[in-house]
Amino acid sequence: MNNYFAIKFSEQSLLYLDQTKLPMQEVYIKTDDYERIASAIERLELRGAPLIGISAAFAIAISFKSISSDHKNHFEKVYKRLASTRPTAVNLFYALDRMKNTFENISDYADTYQILIKEAQAILDYEELCSKRISEIGSNIFTKKSNVLTHCNTGALAAAGFGTAFAVIKKGFDDGFVKHVYVDETRPLLQGLRLTAYELKKNKIPFTVLTDSMAAILMQQGEVDLVITGADRIALNGDSANKVGTYNLAVICNFHNIPFYIAAPSTTIDRKIAAGNEIEIEYRNGSEILSFDGKQITDPDLQTFSPAFDVTPAHLIKGIITEEDFYSFPYNFIK
Ligand code: MRU
Repeated sequence: MNNYFAIKFSEQSLLYLDQTKLPMQEVYIKTDDYERIASAIERLELRGAPLIGISAAFAIAISFKSISSDHKNHFEKVYKRLASTRPTAVNLFYALDRMKNTFENISDYADTYQILIKEAQAILDYEELCSKRISEIGSNIFTKKSNVLTHCNTGALAAAGFGTAFAVIKKGFDDGFVKHVYVDETRPLLQGLRLTAYELKKNKIPFTVLTDSMAAILMQQGEVDLVITGADRIALNGDSANKVGTYNLAVICNFHNIPFYIAAPSTTIDRKIAAGNEIEIEYRNGSEILSFDGKQITDPDLQTFSPAFDVTPAHLIKGIITEEDFYSFPYNFIK
C-alpha cells in the first residue's frame, strides 16, 4: 500500500491531494462542492486519465448530498459542467456516462445520493483492479534486467492502485526486472519531474530525471532498454493520445530500435472512433509555457503553441497492455 493517496471519499466529502503543489507541499483538500472538483480537474490539482474519471464520478454523487427536488435538471447541469472540464481523456466521459446510466435507473430519488456514491466507489474499485491486472500482464515486457524510460505521470496520482505504466514499472522493480528508471521532466507542467519523481522516491525505486529533449542522447548511449507510458484515449486502430512529447519518444524509440509500450485500462479505449485523427486534443493556456513555477520567465505576449497531448500512431507502439490482455500491432480493438 502507498503512504499517500490521490483521492478518497471520507466523511461524506472528497479528500484529495492538490497535485499542483507537489512535491514541495503535500496539501490535502476536503470538499463537498462539485464546482470545486470541476475546477480542480481544470487546474490539474486532480489529473491523469483514470483519476479524472473517478473524480468526476464522485463530484456528481457528492452534488446530490443535499438535493431534495428537481433531480433530473440538477443531474444534467452537473454532468454538463464536468464534461466541459477537459476534452481528451475518454475516461472522463466513460465515468460520466456510467453515472448517468445509474442515475437513469433510480426508482426512488430519496436514495439518489447513496446510490451514486456507491457507483463512484465501484468505478474507483474497478480502476484499482485494472491497475493490478495491468501490472501482471505487463510483466512480460521484461526479458532481462532493464532500464526503463517513462513520460508524464501514470502512478497512484493519475489512477487507482499503483496506476498504469507506473504499476508495470513497480512490479518489474519488485520482481527484479527493472534496474533503473529514467523520467522525462514533461514540459510544461512537469508531471514527470514533480509527480513521477515523487512516486518513485516514495516507492524507493532508483531513478534519474532528464529534460524531454535529452531522451534521444540517452538512447543513443544505449542506456534505455524500453519505454512505457500511459494513454488518455486510444482509437480502435491503436493510435494513442498521451501527454505531449509521447509521440517524440515513440519516434526516437523506433529510430533506435527500442520497444515502446503503452499501458492503460480498457476504459481508455474509445470504441466510437476508428483512428487518432478523431481525438480531440486539449490546448492549454500559453502562459503555462511562458512562466515557470508561477514566475514569468519571458515576454508574456509571445505567441505560443501549447497542445496538452499528442497522438502516437499505432505502428510505433510495440504493445498495448490493458487489464484484459496484451495487444500487439496491428491493433483491431472491437467496437
Ligand atoms: O495533463 P495530465 O497530467 O492529466 O496528463 C496525464 C497523462 O498524459 C497521463 O500519461 C495519462 O493520463 C495516463 S494516466 C494513468
